[in-house]
Amino acid sequence: MRVIVTGGAGFIGSNLVLYLHRERPDWEILNLDALTYAGNLENLRSVESSDRYQFEQVDITDAESVRQVFQRFQPDAIMHLAAESHVDRSILEPMSFIRTNVLGTQILLNETKCLEKAVRFLHVSTDEVYGTLGATGYFTETTPYAPNSPYSASKAGSDFLVRAAFHTYGMDVVTTNCSNNYGPFQFPEKLIPLMISNALTDKPLPVYGDGMQVRDWLYVEDHCSAMLRVLEDGVAGETYNIGGNNERPNIEIVQAILDYLHKPDTLIRHVDDRPGHDRRYAIDASKIKRDLGWEPAWRFETALPATIDWYLDNQPWVGRVMSGVYRDYYQQQYGARLDG
Ligand code: NAD
Ligand code: TYD
Repeated sequence: MRVIVTGGAGFIGSNLVLYLHRERPDWEILNLDALTYAGNLENLRSVESSDRYQFEQVDITDAESVRQVFQRFQPDAIMHLAAESHVDRSILEPMSFIRTNVLGTQILLNETKCLEKAVRFLHVSTDEVYGTLGATGYFTETTPYAPNSPYSASKAGSDFLVRAAFHTYGMDVVTTNCSNNYGPFQFPEKLIPLMISNALTDKPLPVYGDGMQVRDWLYVEDHCSAMLRVLEDGVAGETYNIGGNNERPNIEIVQAILDYLHKPDTLIRHVDDRPGHDRRYAIDASKIKRDLGWEPAWRFETALPATIDWYLDNQPWVGRVMSGVYRDYYQQQYGARLDG
């Protein structure tokens, strides 16, 4: 099996590359990533000398380069994770989200269609495409799309392009819509790693608004096992919701991090709310359980401490990410220059 993972240097992508390398010892993995600010090859240090792993620095909006890699590697499957992924950045600068998430996804679909054989295309999306919930109810696979941020709107656009590829061209596509992930290698701009990094250095912890927004938190390794299950057993044209059965208000997460690190509540700062902030996400993951037998294996009570311990044990990684030095790693390893 020859698999291309797009966005394999990002948070979920690098966890996925490591997971596939471990769980599928006969698979060849090509990581295709542009190495934006969110891409960090240091995450993949443990596999970089493996003869079953290779890396190509390619922007998915560069059709010619994508074509060359696809034609040379001749993949059996694509796992598409490359994206601009941070809501706050999308509010400030939406265009790169449209470019990568919408245009980039269509270019990958075009080049997949050009391959001479049927290739399975797993499109990794988010629960944020469904919009926001009140105090009750859950997102199912038939919940109408109602994205509220430029990020979720761009992901919704990409989901529709993948859907169209199935209905129009009969391509072998499957889509997953996942809830908020946490775990090792997450860039410290997202809630959990930001709060851990700030707490460790006694910096204020910025909580948007009242902190009562609810997310359904999933440990990244569980997301990896779900993506693999859908890739291998999912039905073409179907979408699968993936969640952790683990709804928490943000303030509870922040408090749990402070408690674990024995830091004072006085570090919490309630700041202005995010514009258009979705109040609650909650996933009904019964379809993937019923049809594919997948359930999360990790409990929040063990996975959050494991995540905090990972950040404690990897402070130099955090330091290099915060200072921007991680971007030199590619140059040292591959002797090439990074743009941007
Ligand atoms: P991330 O921001 O950590 O990583 C994104 C990766 O994509 C980076 O390595 C970056 O270099 C690469 N990339 C960005 N633009 C590119 C381009 N034009 N060409 C090639 N590579 C490019 O994101 P993540 O949190 O790992 O998310 C991965 C996927 O999962 C995304 O599609 C995201 O929408 C989805 N998702 C994430 C979460 C979450 O909680 N993080 C939840 C549900 C779904
Ligand atoms: P985030 O990790 O950005 O994920 P998403 O917006 O995709 O759900 O944010 C998770 C929640 O935490 C969200 O409700 C926004 C909130 N949040 C804060 O309160 N403070 C912060 O500094 C950040 C980054 C997020």
